[in-house]
Amino acid sequence: MARRLFDGNPPSEGDRILYPGCGGKAPFAKAVEAICQDEGYPLPQGLAVENDPDLAKQAENLKIKHLRLRKVDFLGPEIAEEGSFDYVLGNPPYVPIEGLSEEEKARYRSDFRVAKGRFDLYLLFFERALSLLAPGGRLVFVTPEKWEYVETARPLRQLVTGRGSGSASYHVEEINHVDEDAFPQLTAYPSVTTIRRIEDNAESVSRTTQIRTRDGTSYQTQLPSGGESWAAAVRGKELSGMETGLTLGDVTVRVSPGMATGADAVFVFDKDEVPEGLSPKWTRPTVSGKELTHGGALDPQSVFACPYRSDGTLPEESDLGAFGEWAARHRERLEDRSCVQKAGKRWYAWHETPPMEDILRPKIVFKDIAKEPKFWAERTGEIIPRHTVYYLVPEEGVSFDQLLSYLNGPVAKEWMEAHCQRAANGFLRLQSRVLRKLPVPVEVARERQGALSF
Ligand SMILES: C[S@@+](CC[C@H](N)C(=O)[O-])C[C@H]1O[C@@H](n2cnc3c(N)ncnc32)[C@H](O)[C@@H]1O
Repeated sequence: MARRLFDGNPPSEGDRILYPGCGGKAPFAKAVEAICQDEGYPLPQGLAVENDPDLAKQAENLKIKHLRLRKVDFLGPEIAEEGSFDYVLGNPPYVPIEGLSEEEKARYRSDFRVAKGRFDLYLLFFERALSLLAPGGRLVFVTPEKWEYVETARPLRQLVTGRGSGSASYHVEEINHVDEDAFPQLTAYPSVTTIRRIEDNAESVSRTTQIRTRDGTSYQTQLPSGGESWAAAVRGKELSGMETGLTLGDVTVRVSPGMATGADAVFVFDKDEVPEGLSPKWTRPTVSGKELTHGGALDPQSVFACPYRSDGTLPEESDLGAFGEWAARHRERLEDRSCVQKAGKRWYAWHETPPMEDILRPKIVFKDIAKEPKFWAERTGEIIPRHTVYYLVPEEGVSFDQLLSYLNGPVAKEWMEAHCQRAANGFLRLQSRVLRKLPVPVEVARERQGALSF
C-alpha cells in the first residue's frame, strides 16, 4: 500500500503524510520509512492519530523518525487544526453502528455527510481523511470492499465521484481486491482503494478507474457518479465472463416461497407436541424464517400437519384416517379461510397446494427479506419450508455445493445488492423473479443436460 501511495507520485521535500488510526505497531509508518530509504526519497513529515491510549503509547515508543503522534479522536474537532496532507495511508477501524453509543451516533450524523443509515466507522474515516487531502494529494486505504455497492455507502460513493462545484473533487484511481488472508483482522472481503484529490484548477474530464480482481485480472472502468452501486462497473468483467446465458432460473427446477396454509396456528406444531395419531404419517418437518436465522435448516423444531401424499395429491375425506379425526376438531376455523370460502378448496386443504414432487427434494433455503443475503442447505429433501422461507431446487446435474457456495460468495452477493429491491429498513428483498436472472458460472452446471452448449 505504501508503494502504491508513492507510485508515480514520489514525495518531495517538505511533504506531509497522515496515518489515521495508526495502531500500536504503526506498520504503515515503518513501511514508508523503509521505502523512502530504499528509493532515496526524502522522508515526508508524518502525523499519526490514535485514540487508544495504550496503542498510542506503544506507537510512540517505536521512535519512528518521521512520526509525530496525536492521541486524539480522528473524527473529532482537534484534527482540523493540522492543515492538509499530501498523503494519507491507513487501515481504518471497522465498527458497525451497533458498536457506537447513542451520543456518538448523533454526533457523527451531524458532523459527517456520509453518516447515513446504518453507517460504519470506516466510511467516516474516508470522509475525514479526504477532507484533509491537499489538492493533488493521494490517499490509500484498505477497507471491506462492500462500500463499492452497499446502500449505506451511497453518500461516500457520491463524494468521491461527484464533480464538485466549489467543493473538492476526487478521482478513484484504483480499487484492488486483495486476498482475504492479506489482512487477517478484516472479516469481509478487503479492497485497497487509491484516491487522488484533483487539483482545484484541473479540467473536468471523465476519469477511469483501474480494477484489480482477486483472480489477478486487471481492467479499466468508469464508475457511475450518482452514488449508485458500483457493482456492475467493478464486477462488469467478472459478471460478463459468466454471462454465457446461464442464470439461476436455468439451473433450478423452481425458486419459490414456502407453503402458506392459511391457518398456521392450527397446522403447525412444535415437534414435541404433535397430537396423537398424526405422527409420522400425517406430519412433515417445516422450518420458519426465524428458525433459519437461529440454526439453519439442520434441525427443524416444528412440523406441519399435512394431508397431502408424496405425489402431491389430496386424499378424499373418507381416506383421511387420523388426520381427518384431528382436523374435524378445527373444522369451523379451517372452513373460515378465504381459500375455502372464495377459492372453493376443500376445508382440510392448505391455502396453497404444495408442489410435493419439487419440494421433497434436496434444496437451498433462504429468507426473502434479509440484511445480507444468506443461503442454507436443506439436504434431506424432507422439510417443507413455511411461507416465511424461500427455497430453490437445483436441477439434476447441477452441483449442489458449488451452487450453494456461489450463492453465498461475493460475486452473487454483489449482483443481488445491485439488482434486488430494498425494503424500507435497507434490507434486501430476494424476490424469486429477480433471483432467477442471477448469472451463474458454467462450472456449477457442468453435468447438467445441455450444459455443453454454453
Ligand atoms: C483496523 S485498526 C488498524 C491499525 C493499524 N493501522 C494496522 O494496520 O495495524 C484501526 C485503528 O484505529 C484506531 N481508532 C479507532 N477509532 C479511532 C478514532 N476515532 N480516532 C483515532 N484512532 C481510532 C484503533 O484503536 C486501531 O488502532
